[in-house]
Amino acid sequence: MLRRLVEFKGIRRLPFEQYRDHVQQIYDGPAGAVLALASLISLHEPLIGHLIRGRKFDVSQRKSILDVGSGAGQILGHLLKAVDIDANFIAFDLSQGMLKRARTRMKDDRPTFISGDMMQLPFADGSFDCITCGWVIEHLPDPIPGLKEMGRVLAPGGSILILTTEDTIAGVMTSRTWKCRTYNRKRFQAACEHSGLQWKSELWFSKIHRFFRMGGILVELTRDDINAITGEDDSTPTSPADSTPDMASSR
Ligand SMILES: C[S@@+](CC[C@H](N)C(=O)[O-])C[C@H]1O[C@@H](n2cnc3c(N)ncnc32)[C@H](O)[C@@H]1O
Repeated sequence: MLRRLVEFKGIRRLPFEQYRDHVQQIYDGPAGAVLALASLISLHEPLIGHLIRGRKFDVSQRKSILDVGSGAGQILGHLLKAVDIDANFIAFDLSQGMLKRARTRMKDDRPTFISGDMMQLPFADGSFDCITCGWVIEHLPDPIPGLKEMGRVLAPGGSILILTTEDTIAGVMTSRTWKCRTYNRKRFQAACEHSGLQWKSELWFSKIHRFFRMGGILVELTRDDINAITGEDDSTPTSPADSTPDMASSR
């Protein structure tokens, strides 16, 4: 209850036409300029490296990689080190300012930097065998269009890594700082499944994170090809991320 009161709720109320301006204002501006430093101080960037190097999310055989909401390249930098030299990389972000920062930080000419909205990815169906999306989907008023788009561009047999803010005390504080929302773990799982994505495995940065249930929702998703992603059920009145019964988070 307290968490619900404290959480930043603006993003849930914004119409889809306006949320883009909201995100661009935050990330093109001073907050975006300190994002890379904040990720280092909060240990998020090194912890993602640990996850990828330790192959908890295995990218070693991947050839076609999309990093959605690349930000300052906090995940991209680790992917560039872990994946074969001949792989293709796309760094995708709504904020032109963040893409510029990522390009400067990466000092690597392999990624192609593309600006756009993850709810309308400018790629053909099944284009990527690996998609990463770290701390981005909490910026959408509703996760379903973004989840469906990632499912659409994922090739059969491919995997998606999502990291997102959970509705814990730490999560609601993050939501206030970065003007984003949080997700309840069970509801978010329901939203993924509703979008045709299978919840393959839940990940944790470390045993300590797992024990204290800290660090946010980290999940590997695959395509649920039995319930093919058609986009036909966009008429769903409310996203499962907001409508399934409240399952109190364990922290
Ligand atoms: C907190 S940063 C995450 C950066 C990085 N992925 C990481 O793991 O730290 C969120 C990024 O998502 C981008 N973003 C937010 N909404 C987006 C959308 N609808 N489409 C594409 N990028 C978006 C923002 O511009 C920002 O760069």
